[in-house]
Amino acid sequence: MQRQVRRWRREGVRVGFVPTMGYLHDGHLGLVRRARRLVGPNGQVVVSIYVNPTQFSATEDLSKYPRDLTRDKTLCAAAGVDAIFFPDDKQMYPGRAEGDYSTYVVEERLSQGMEGAARRTHFRGVTTVVAKLFNIVQPDVAVFGAKDWQQAAVIRRMTTDLNFPLRVVVAPTQRERDGLAMSSRNVYLSSDERRQATVLRRSIQFARRAVSGKGASASRLKMQIARLISLEPTARLDYVEFFDPDTLLPMAPRRGAQMALAVFIGKTRLIDNERL
Ligand code: PAF
Repeated sequence: MQRQVRRWRREGVRVGFVPTMGYLHDGHLGLVRRARRLVGPNGQVVVSIYVNPTQFSATEDLSKYPRDLTRDKTLCAAAGVDAIFFPDDKQMYPGRAEGDYSTYVVEERLSQGMEGAARRTHFRGVTTVVAKLFNIVQPDVAVFGAKDWQQAAVIRRMTTDLNFPLRVVVAPTQRERDGLAMSSRNVYLSSDERRQATVLRRSIQFARRAVSGKGASASRLKMQIARLISLEPTARLDYVEFFDPDTLLPMAPRRGAQMALAVFIGKTRLIDNERL
């Protein structure tokens, strides 16, 4: 991959990059289309497919995370992707089996709350693998989805702090017709759970209506959202937060605040967020 990118660079070709963990859906393909628009018809669009073990904790779904490389390749070809980077664990974490991989990238501020609090080592894994992917693919622009708002903020910060010479672009969340944010994990849901999962988007719409006047109290709104979620038989609220979209610092729920929530539907943990 590094040799190929060096050749492209010598020819003055711009490189757009979409990092993924595979099992691609229309949300990923939207990121690919955005990358294509950003680098133009003569640019090269690279998609990485790698289920990164270091961003999963021991109790999470690493081994059963959905994978289908054949289907991913077909989707990438149809979407006009120029190259797929598909490394294995030995290439990404040399010596990891013996436990001698020892260099990690840690963002210390934006990664503390929400997903970082619920999944203690998650962002260390994300920043480490994304930094490694940036070093390997050396893109001019990398595109991430707004569904993982905190992840995008952490990566943008890492890119600035570590002087990666590239632009990070965040593309809007793609949704199913009923509002559920597209995610590879949606495949875990039974048909009944799939119906219940719309409660994430409904919670955001509820909050949006609640703040449309003069705003609302955070604690009252959180209670109302917890109640709305508890009406779904297998749903359990993990967190709901209102915060400044750039700094991620807590903010009263009012227009312009970002709302994010994580909800278990049965055993599947889903996240969503939007600007109120
Ligand atoms: O958002 C994802 O799919 C992953 O966290 C990423 C950015 C590909 C890193 O493994």
